[in-house]
Amino acid sequence: MIAQRGFASSSAQSSDKLMVHRDTDYNNPSIPFEFNTETLKQAEEIISHYPPQYKKAAVIPLLDLGQRQNSGWVSISVMNYVAKLLEMPPMRVYEVASFYTMFNREPVGKHFVQLCTTTPCMLGGCGSTSILETIEKHLGIKQGQTTDDKLFTLIEVECLGACANAPMMQVNDDFYEDLTPETTIKVLDALRNGQPIKPGPQSARHSSEPASGRTALVSEPYATQHNVQEFA
Ligand code: FES
Repeated sequence: MIAQRGFASSSAQSSDKLMVHRDTDYNNPSIPFEFNTETLKQAEEIISHYPPQYKKAAVIPLLDLGQRQNSGWVSISVMNYVAKLLEMPPMRVYEVASFYTMFNREPVGKHFVQLCTTTPCMLGGCGSTSILETIEKHLGIKQGQTTDDKLFTLIEVECLGACANAPMMQVNDDFYEDLTPETTIKVLDALRNGQPIKPGPQSARHSSEPASGRTALVSEPYATQHNVQEFA
């Protein structure tokens, strides 16, 4: 049977959650934060790409560095530190961090699962609805929640640009594509157990060629040594 769901069955994102900061014991300006030596080196390299009077243009990559160092989310202390480093008003940094959805302003699990449920993923393969149900059942959480062991956070997202390999999910920096309920569980279990798992299509496909095999570019390209990906 095909899994079905209503158009508005995602949990509502309240505007206060999206836009407003309230001090908590784990997220308040008195909690110290600064880049470690390695991150600071990367930040200085990024800042050096801009004229000194425009170094605030580095705010997005620096917030990204801060999020990576801070276990996957940007706290108020991360934002304040970035503002200080770039000599810009903290409010300008808050505006950027609260506008772009790739910045998490609440803690997330070690494996941040973003499942695409936009139309091609909803219709492609076995459909993202059955993948969502599989993840929720396997991890024992609903979308927007984190597992008790803090290993997984699950959210639904809009198109991640891998529609040709629908349905798909992103976990931290990696895409897992051509998912079925079975391969989804395999990916989640491997991540939970710290085992290696190959990102990309979880089917027999190499990339986004037709599932029945390639129909074009089947002969040996000329000058294979130049800019041509090996076809395994
Ligand atoms: S619709 Fe899911 S990646 Fe585009």
